[in-house]
Order: sequence, then C-alpha cells, then structure tokens
Amino acid sequence: PVLVVDFGAQYAQLIARRVRETQVYSEVVPSTESVDELIKRNPAAIVLSGGPSSVYEDGAPQVDPKLFEAGIPVFGICYGFQAMAVALGGATEHTGTREYGRTELAIAEDGGVLHEDLPGHHPVWMSHGDCVTKAPEGFTVTATSSGAPVAAFENVERRFAGVQYHPEVMHSPHGQEVLRRFLHEIAGVRPQWTTSSIVDEQVALIRAQVGDGKAICGLSGGVDSAVAAALVNRAIGDRLTCVFVDHGLLRAGERGQVERDYVAATGVRLVTVDARERFLTALAGVTDPEEKRKIIGREFIRVFEQAASDLQTEAGQSGEHYDFLVQGTLYPDVVESGGGTGAANIKSHHNVGGLPEDLQFKLVEPLRALFKDEVRRVGLELGLPEVIVHRQPFPGPGLGIRIIGEVTAARLDLLRAADAIAREELTAAGLDRTIWQCPVVLLADVRSVGVQGDGRTYGHPVVLRPVSSEDAMTADWTRLPYDVLERISTRITNEVNDVNRVVLDVTSKPPGTIEWE
Ligand code: XMP
Repeated sequence: PVLVVDFGAQYAQLIARRVRETQVYSEVVPSTESVDELIKRNPAAIVLSGGPSSVYEDGAPQVDPKLFEAGIPVFGICYGFQAMAVALGGATEHTGTREYGRTELAIAEDGGVLHEDLPGHHPVWMSHGDCVTKAPEGFTVTATSSGAPVAAFENVERRFAGVQYHPEVMHSPHGQEVLRRFLHEIAGVRPQWTTSSIVDEQVALIRAQVGDGKAICGLSGGVDSAVAAALVNRAIGDRLTCVFVDHGLLRAGERGQVERDYVAATGVRLVTVDARERFLTALAGVTDPEEKRKIIGREFIRVFEQAASDLQTEAGQSGEHYDFLVQGTLYPDVVESGGGTGAANIKSHHNVGGLPEDLQFKLVEPLRALFKDEVRRVGLELGLPEVIVHRQPFPGPGLGIRIIGEVTAARLDLLRAADAIAREELTAAGLDRTIWQCPVVLLADVRSVGVQGDGRTYGHPVVLRPVSSEDAMTADWTRLPYDVLERISTRITNEVNDVNRVVLDVTSKPPGTIEWE
C-alpha cells in the first residue's frame, strides 16, 4: 500500500482517498508508528500529511531521518513537506507571514516532473505559518508563492518530492494531477487498484475467513449493508442469510426494493421480519428524540436477535450453526475509532441499529478498507440496481426521528406520502447527485391555518431539508431551483391530506444537524 502518515490533520483521510483515485491502494497510519513499523508494512510509497503543528513547537511530531534511508519514495504535504525539509538538511523559518486559503502558485522555469506543463500561475490551497526557505541538497525547487520561497521540491533520483500547498483539496485544481505524477511517475507505483480487483480480493478473503461456515447479515436498506451482503453472497452463496427488519419506519417502496429488486439482482436468501406493530407499540406516547432513538435501537436488536436465534435453531437441526455476522463497516469508521490495524475494536454497528457485542458471532467486514464512493462502485460491479447503490443516506431510526412529536401509524402514512413526492420530484429534476440527502420532516404537533378550495384548513407543516455534504460531518443547505420547490410544495399540499404548508430549512450544519432529532 501507499501509507499516508497522519500528523493530526483532518486531511489524512482525504489524501488517502485521492491516492486511491489514482488507482493505488492506500491506508492511513498514525505518526507515532516507528520507521521500522512502517517498513514492515512494505509500502510502495509514503505520504507525509499536513498537520496543525509548527515544526518549532515542543513535542511537534518529527520525521525520523532513517525513513529516507529505506529506499521508499516519500511525498511531503504542508507540515509533512516542512518536516521532510528539516530531516533532509534543508531549512524552514518561522516568518510570521501566514498564507491561508487560495494562493497563487508560480511554477519555476524548471517545473520538474510534478509541475511541468501546468499553467505558469495557478491557484492552490495553502495553510501554513512556517515555510521552507532552503531546499535540501540535491533537490530542485519547482514552484514558489509569495509566502513560500520554496513551495515545491523534488529529487527524482531518490524518489522524494513535496509541496507546501494542499493538493488533496478541490481548491487546488491541479493537485490531483500532481499527486498522480508523484505516485505514477516519480514513485513508479502501478495503478492496479480497480473495482474488479477489489471484488476479487474481497471474495477470496471472505472465502478464506468463513470456510464452510454460515453467515448472517442484517439488511438496513442502506447502501453499506446491501453491498457487504452482496459481496459475501458472491463468496459463499446461500450459506449467507440476510435478515431485513421492517420496523414500519421505512420510506415508501423500500421494503419492496429490498425484497424484490435486491433479491433479484443478488439472489441472496432473505428473511423479512414484519415488526411494525411491535415498534408502534413501543413508541406510543414517546416524544423525546433520544428516548425514541433508544427504543428503536433496543427493539431492533431484540427482533434481530430473535431472528438470528430462530435461524440457529433451524440450522441446529441440520448440525450447522451461523458463526459469522456480516457488517457494513467502512474505512472512515475504522480510522475514526482508532483502528486501522484490524484489531477487535468493534464500534460501528450503526448499520443495523447497534447490535450488542455479546451476540456470539465472528465479524465479517468486507468493506473495512473502503470509502463510500468505492463501496458504491463495488455495488454496481456486483450488479446491484442504481436505485439501491445511489440511494440517499437514511438514518437507522428511519422516519421515527422525522416526525416531531409522537410517532403514530397515521402520521407515518402522511410523512411517507410527502417524502415520496419530494423524492420523485428531485429525481425527475435530475438532482439526486447534487444533494446529499433531503429529509422531509413532519411537524406533527404544530398546526397552522390555511385555505383550500372554499374552506379553512387547520393542518400540519412539513419541512424540506435538502443538504449538500461530502461526509455528513458538515453540510450546507442546497439551493434548490424555485420551480422544483414549487412543484414539490404544490403536490404535497394537494395530494397529502392534512398537510397545508411546506417550509424550507435554510440552516447549515453546524449549527443545525441534518436530521431534526
Ligand atoms: P445528523 O443529523 O447527525 O446526521 O447531522 C448525520 C448523518 O447521519 C445520519 N443519521 C443516522 N444514521 N443511524 C444512522 O445509521 C442513526 O441513528 C442516524 N442519525 C442520523 C443522517 O441521516 C445523516 O446522513
């Protein structure tokens, strides 16, 4: 792999993603790993990420000069670039002039491998207080900026290079090309990380792990569990059984999509548990958001456990047990939970609403190394329908946390109808890929006066919450075209009884969260 050494920046994961976009496999590792440990992982190249610190601060992470004796190609970014300069005998200075944000990069006469033929002046994203003032011996300086006399350097023979700016962010329009040139042309890494290679590799790994065993998987209706199950199904066929819990908090058409389209595309063995009554009963009279979440999570676990134990009992008669549980854990979850080493840190059960750790299963997590966009590509490669692979994120507690107030069957029907209209119109307008998700929220305890036909109405408002985001950690409200908003509003108020007002949520995250509860 290409190892991205994380100096504590929020950028390390993004760098790893960008490396993979050049079809090279990459992993994030903490900067506390010793050079010997890094070498043991047999890296094709190492990228030193940016970081919040100054190389002059006490306790600032340093780069062990031994790293540069190992014959491994190294690329330094921002802080990593400065640390690299220091370790190789160049100089950095604390000049006090900060460059932050969009900055103009000037390419030197000799643009080297990294910057040759790029526009002589082009924008890059900078974020630094210190700067490199002297490149190490044997390095060519290939770019400068007003705050960084040495903004990029390279030593092609030793396969080392670095840049002061952040090539991984979209505000550096040529950054991806620079990263690609380093990896393919300077480091000589071959682009072999493709979707079909991911599928082949995972199928082989799953077969090796599960052997003749049997596995079970909770399908949530989300992308991750759907793709994880499809992969495991490809590997072990009908020794996998999927359990889909219909908690009655699903969107219109979702159960059918799983039972019909998903099964048709994958051939998985599916058991649906109809638990609608059970959830409604448990939620009766509850209005507090956290309490709703707890109840839904708890009931989900009980239903799933019951289904799993029924399957065990059935299987027990023929002698074979379900030893494995498939989870759709993604790479960002692994990195964020401090994992990355494949250790037993079992955190991310959110795909199936939080399964307890004392369920007696060994985990199969075929997406542990993948980012969301890779998961989607794997899903398409496995033949899953677009409607499943490109569906919007949908919270485990479902529509239960989109009804502000008590959850009842009638309110769920109302919200389902309004949500279906909003989704239909957004899809028809070609906006599915522009928005990240668009929750529709029913303010069930609010009423307002309206007029329809000749009569007064006293109905409920629904809120449209269209957001744009890269990872749901932060989000901006999406500027939807007025004509689309108008169609959604007209149709909802005409077609959904008891809703007489449609309002638009124009709050970013922060301060608002994406969901209302
Ligand atoms: P918030 O509301 O926290 O949501 O800004 C961030 C993203 O997470 C989704 N979400 C959930 N997903 N279980 C899930 O699987 C949950 O309990 C849950 N709560 C929120 C939300 O839809 C958004 O994409």
